[in-house]
Order: sequence, then C-alpha cells, then structure tokens
Amino acid sequence: MNLVSSSATLPYSPEVALRTAPVYERVRDVIPAIEWPVHAPLIDRINQLKKQRNAVILAHNYQTPEIFHGVADLSGDSLALARQATQTDAEVIVLCGVHFMAETAAILNPDKRVLIPDLEAGCSLASSITAADVRLLKQRYPGVPVVTYVNTSAAVKAETDVCCTSANAVEVVESLGVERVIFLPDEYLGRYVASQTEVELILWHGSCEVHERFTPEQVRSFRQGHEGLIVLAHPECPPNVLAEADYVGSTSGMIGYVGERQPRNVVMITECSMSDNVAVEHPNVNFIRPCNLCPHMKRITLAKILRSLETLDHRVTIDPAIAARARQSVERMLAVGRGAGR
Ligand code: 13P
Ligand code: SF4
Repeated sequence: MNLVSSSATLPYSPEVALRTAPVYERVRDVIPAIEWPVHAPLIDRINQLKKQRNAVILAHNYQTPEIFHGVADLSGDSLALARQATQTDAEVIVLCGVHFMAETAAILNPDKRVLIPDLEAGCSLASSITAADVRLLKQRYPGVPVVTYVNTSAAVKAETDVCCTSANAVEVVESLGVERVIFLPDEYLGRYVASQTEVELILWHGSCEVHERFTPEQVRSFRQGHEGLIVLAHPECPPNVLAEADYVGSTSGMIGYVGERQPRNVVMITECSMSDNVAVEHPNVNFIRPCNLCPHMKRITLAKILRSLETLDHRVTIDPAIAARARQSVERMLAVGRGAGR
C-alpha cells in the first residue's frame, strides 16, 4: 500500500471534482468557489486515506467548514468529543481541535493512536495553570474538592477531583453535594456557574483569549438594525457580555438552540467558524457573524490533517501514571448527567 503523497501535487481533476461535488453543494454558501479547487483534492485524499488507516476524524465546532463538513466523521463541543472518543472502534483518532482535546481523547483511549495535526495548537486557558498551582490551592483549601474545566493539561486533570465542560459545569459542581469547590481555571465560566448555583466557587484568573475580547457595546450594536435578534453567548465571555445575551451555553448548546427554535436573526458570541458551520445546516436562519478567531484552532488545516494520516504523527502521549489519575477525573465527569447539555 503506497501511503506517500504530497498535498502540493494533488490535482483538482474531473474525478476529484465529481467525488467532492456533494460536499461542495453543502458548503457553497460559506466557501467561495475560487477556494474549492484547493480544498477538494485534499478532502478527497483524506477521505480515502482515513479508511485505509482505520482512522476516525473528530472535529471541534470551531474547525473551518472544509474540515467540519468535508472530512470530519464526528463533531461537537468538548463534551461530545470526549464522549465520542470513548465510543469509536477506529485504531487511529485524528483530533481536529486543540491539544487538550487530543489529550482527553488519549487519556480515554490509552491503546489507540491519537494524533493532532499540529502540536502547537494550544489554548490560553490550558496554559494559565499548572499542576503545581493546583497542588498549592489544595494545600490552601484542604478538603475542598477541585472541579477543573477540560481546557487544561493532563497533569492538571490528574490533580483534579472531577472535570467539567461548558455544557455540564453547573451539574458537575452540584453533583458533589458540597458547599464550596475550587473551580479552575476559567474565571468567567466560574462566575457564570456561580450565578447559577448556591455552591460557593473559589476561582482562578484564567481566561479565553478569544471570548474575553467581546464587549457589551458590540452586542448592543449587533441588535441595532436586526430586529428580534437572538444573542447566543459562550460562558467563557465576560459577565457583562453574558448579561446582554438571550441564551448562554456551550457551542453545542448554541447549535441546539438554533436547530430547535430557528430564529430569524441570530448572533453567536463565540469563535468565527461556528456561524459558518451552523449556517450550512440552517439556510433559513440569518447569522450576524462577528469574528474573533482562535489562532490555536486555526493551526489545524486540511494539509496538516493529510500529513498526519500519511505519517501517523503527531502522536499525543501522556505519562501513564498521570494519564491514570487524569482518566478518573474525566470519567467522573462523563458519569454525571449523561446526555444533558446546557
Ligand atoms: P465548548 O466545549 O463549548 O465547545 O467550548 C470549548 C472551547 O472553548 C473550545 O475552545
Ligand atoms: Fe482555548 Fe479560547 Fe481557543 Fe477555545 S477558543 S481553544 S478556550 S483559546
């Protein structure tokens, strides 16, 4: 089996055009026609190669439409990706998202090969806290359980009692049945959770470099000129932005809102690619598209995905002792409120 190819030499042949035409029909409103001859040969080759490799491609909702709609087998928010990672029979998982997501997949699948197309795809939240920081907090607040957002390293998860995502944070905090928890590392998510529960939260000063840039003035300006605009916001946004929103939820929560309620005009206060990906499924909904781009998510490209499948790099590996402890905190999260989303 010859698995060697170079994306630079892949032609946009009539055969490729024919095979990728159904994908283009879906994404034509969000990908300009002039770009398609660049994407199509890569999509075609990736879809062939992933079968040969017995690989599955998991993509976060912030991946670009050519990845999200062109090559992903499964997609979703952080919680959905963690769940899907436990359910695949594929030998190889290519995680199109950021490093902590690939680590979570690797933590849950020690016997599979988990690949990330770009090792530098980080996250400002994950890099805001270390395992040593968590150990110090535990010393300072002895006996107070630690709830950690999945946007953290495996080493931080290993110091954690239970993980959470933006889809289940309130449920996870309340599942512990205690009066006080240490909630790490996203201060804004923590403040949102604190507004939804009686449990007292001890917070950390981490933030998402994408969501912290939105302002309430921006949201108010979107409402002008768009009568009945529905504002959906991610809980990583500052509290004064969330105060302007009609709905606060995870990326999949926002997708669910649009699917169920079909608002005439909607704005998603989150990363750029979300609106493009969701608009493909809902042609009757008008999306106002603010664009704060996550530079880490955007490191993942079709060319890098192809290279990952060709070379089976970059494998995400975790020290087994750390992985075993981190797995407990992720599995405890997965056991809370199965199927729920917010
Ligand atoms: P979701 O879990 O809502 O998808 O958000 C996580 C996130 O911020 C990914 O960058
Ligand atoms: Fe991290 Fe924010 Fe990018 Fe998500 S959008 S990966 S939280 S920096």
